Amino acid sequence: MDLWVYFRGLTHYNTSMSLQTSGALTRRADSSHGLAARSRWSRHPWLKPMTRCLFVSFLFIGWPDDRGVSSVQAGAVSTVHPLATQAAMEVMKEGGNAVDAAVAAGLTLGVVDGFNSGIGGGCFLIIRTPRGEIVGIDGREAAPATAHQDMYLKDGEADPSLSQSGPLAIAVPGALAAYELALSRFGKRSLNNLVMPAARIAENGFLIDEGFHSRIRGVVERLRGFSEAADIFLDGQHQAHPVGHRLVQLDLAKTYRSIGNKGVDFFYRGPFAHSVDQWMKRSGGKLTAQDMAAYRAILRPSLRSRYRQYDLAGFPPPSSGGVHVAQILNILQHFSLREKGVASADWAHLVVEAMKLAFADRAYWLGDADFAPVPDGLVDVSYARALAERIDPERALDVPSHGQPPHAYKSLFGSHTTHFSTADEEGWWVACTATVNTTLGSKVVIPDTGVVMNNEMDDFSAQPGKPNFFGLVGSQANAIRPGKRPLSSMSPTLVSLEGEPVYALGGAGGPTIISQTVLHLILMIDFGLTPEQALAHPRLHHQWNPDQVILEEGWPASAIEGLRDKGHEVRVVPSLGVSQIVARPDKKGSFQALADPRVKGSRMTHTP
Ligand code: DON
Repeated sequence: MDLWVYFRGLTHYNTSMSLQTSGALTRRADSSHGLAARSRWSRHPWLKPMTRCLFVSFLFIGWPDDRGVSSVQAGAVSTVHPLATQAAMEVMKEGGNAVDAAVAAGLTLGVVDGFNSGIGGGCFLIIRTPRGEIVGIDGREAAPATAHQDMYLKDGEADPSLSQSGPLAIAVPGALAAYELALSRFGKRSLNNLVMPAARIAENGFLIDEGFHSRIRGVVERLRGFSEAADIFLDGQHQAHPVGHRLVQLDLAKTYRSIGNKGVDFFYRGPFAHSVDQWMKRSGGKLTAQDMAAYRAILRPSLRSRYRQYDLAGFPPPSSGGVHVAQILNILQHFSLREKGVASADWAHLVVEAMKLAFADRAYWLGDADFAPVPDGLVDVSYARALAERIDPERALDVPSHGQPPHAYKSLFGSHTTHFSTADEEGWWVACTATVNTTLGSKVVIPDTGVVMNNEMDDFSAQPGKPNFFGLVGSQANAIRPGKRPLSSMSPTLVSLEGEPVYALGGAGGPTIISQTVLHLILMIDFGLTPEQALAHPRLHHQWNPDQVILEEGWPASAIEGLRDKGHEVRVVPSLGVSQIVARPDKKGSFQALADPRVKGSRMTHTP
């Protein structure tokens, strides 16, 4: 499937705001914030239609929860699904913190948004404690012990069908281990307490909406070859269940209940691991019960950087997100973007050039730093200055190859996806990006468990120069090794100003996650856009290979022509990724929870 057609499926556009059943913003301050946004917005008439939609959505969704407005808010949640947002808010209302709420959201998304993420997949969490410590939890999937570099080669050529669906595509899932680690270190609630409400949703069912329907419709053909998944996600005529169908997932409910009652051992060392082992043996897969038992979520120091006067904490390898968000912003630090006007080709060109240079480095240097030497010089400010000096403001740069960061071999790091953010009054903040990779991952559901298994093995570089599903190429640094974690672009990011957290953000959409995160930060920090304006702004992306600028519809013709005049090949696509932001721009002021207007996102703030 063409990547950009895939992305269009990912971001099912709403044409009517009444379809946008987002959660509620509870404070009048938020509505007036919307008004302020509108007046500033009007300076950019080309963005107006999107803003108006967003503003209407504020009024529409703000109303139901406006009862009980009080002057202090206790927290905020932003996810792509109202039921997940609601589950997280319930937890906070009952005294749980933002970490508990994030885990509740992740577990619920595995039920209501299981084509994007779930316990059969992985995640990265960035967590800030009230004392201001920031830590990463790596729940990225890992390659089975018998995985090897040539496992997808057929007649010397990597076969993407093997790494993208079926048994060989599946890596050891990590999300549940990460949620458990997050709770045991930082939570107030037990896993049992958080998993049971999600089990009840799986049992009672939920109504399939247009977004869910269209994502399943996009994979109907391939699902027909996977009977367990087809039994859940297709109807008797082997078509996607229609909009409005109540999807009940009894097997998944049973799995969730068993995890609640017996703990994660049920999943990693008990009956679930045994079922995986049996199914893999029958189906020619590699993942074993030993692989499941050996899996550990890992605490990692967050990757710190600074952009203008803001401090960023991103995710280190095996994500490339933290490295390249920091690297791109380090490069852009050398330019005054603000002067160039918000929708101008001059500004877009600089951002695209920085992305191109960073993605060239990604292809060569990046991989799981526990296995490959990933230089921390990639985020060195002197390296960024050298790269910035290569950028010609008037002409697209030819970037034939990666750069050479300082101390490249000496100073090393650490020896269809969803993003959600939560925050609470106590000072806990969470940015979490979770995924099974592409829609319904490997398409494999382990029999009688209801668990959709990831196809994260496709994020490895199956062969040098051979693009993966997202068109990304890689080197030895991201070659398959037993136990190694495939390189990711997921970029959960926490941003602070003078020590106070102000934004928790991230996105879905493969490599565009990096571009989305960079873009939102630039729009908010350089151009002073509000988070909702930043989310509504048309996006841009460049991943070095192919040498092409991808613009989301909505950029003015002058910007498109301007980029072409500077020598860029430009492609315009209907939509580009899905992001969520929780914000508290005024230190101790109101929380804001923003969901991407491209999807039926869901955001809530809570007053105690
Ligand atoms: O980890 C990664 O970079 C990818 N597996 C993310 C996949 C993704 O974002 C799917 N699409 N929305």
